[in-house]
Amino acid sequence: MSMESSRKLVEEKNLRHIAFIMDGNGRWAKKRGMPREFGHKEGAKVFRHIVDYCFNTGIKNVTVYAFSTENWKRSEREVSSLMTLFTAYIKDAFEEIRKNDARVIFLGDKNAFSGKLRKQMEKLEKESEKGTYILNVALNYGARAEIVRAVNCLLKEGKTEVSEEDISSRLYTKNSPDPDLIVRTAGEQRLSNFLLWQAAYSEFYYTDTLWPDMNDEEIDRAIEAFGARTRRYGAVV
Ligand code: IPE
Ligand code: IPE
Ligand code: MG
Repeated sequence: MSMESSRKLVEEKNLRHIAFIMDGNGRWAKKRGMPREFGHKEGAKVFRHIVDYCFNTGIKNVTVYAFSTENWKRSEREVSSLMTLFTAYIKDAFEEIRKNDARVIFLGDKNAFSGKLRKQMEKLEKESEKGTYILNVALNYGARAEIVRAVNCLLKEGKTEVSEEDISSRLYTKNSPDPDLIVRTAGEQRLSNFLLWQAAYSEFYYTDTLWPDMNDEEIDRAIEAFGARTRRYGAVV
């Protein structure tokens, strides 16, 4: 498999949305006798490269799980190093989105972040609004919280009965189709509160590779695996 064959498969199989649960930064660092923060730093570099590669294969929507509503339980030191990395990413992203014709959308409640970071997140979303390729960055994201929020929006609108479409259109992911493929690294096979609603008919790809070791070949393999799946959506085909 190569970028060329991946491009072909993306087109043929209509792979419109790939999502990543970027896991294993801590283990990657531990293996090297380094603090967990070192793994996050490397993971952030790899994230930038992988997103570019996915867009280059022609996938129009990329979602990454960067920080969950549960990740606040980690040490203050680790959380603060992650906040520093998010801030640095956002700073560089203003330039990157212009180069990639990308639009950045943050999934999650921004109120948990410092006023300064929140303003930068909002500014980046606004400035990239016209971009073609969508990059959803899940930060302080939890799927249950997202669904509850959607329902509360509907209640505020005065609805007494809701449809699936009502809920879907009030989720943070409303600008992207449901994910076709969800990739989780580091050997864990669970969703960890990621895209519960949207994953109804997603295909899953698991790899033991730790996130900082992710590379183009691994993406090609995931796309190849996706290409070999038969999506039935409950029907007999
Ligand atoms: C993923 O790597 C990054 C975040 C959850 C922020 P981890 O930090 O979960 O790495 P492991 O799972 O401990 O190896
Ligand atoms: C899921 O990874 C969250 C992110 C990748 C941001 P975790 O490492 O937090 O998940 P668990 O704790 O192993 O389920
Ligand atoms: Mg983990």
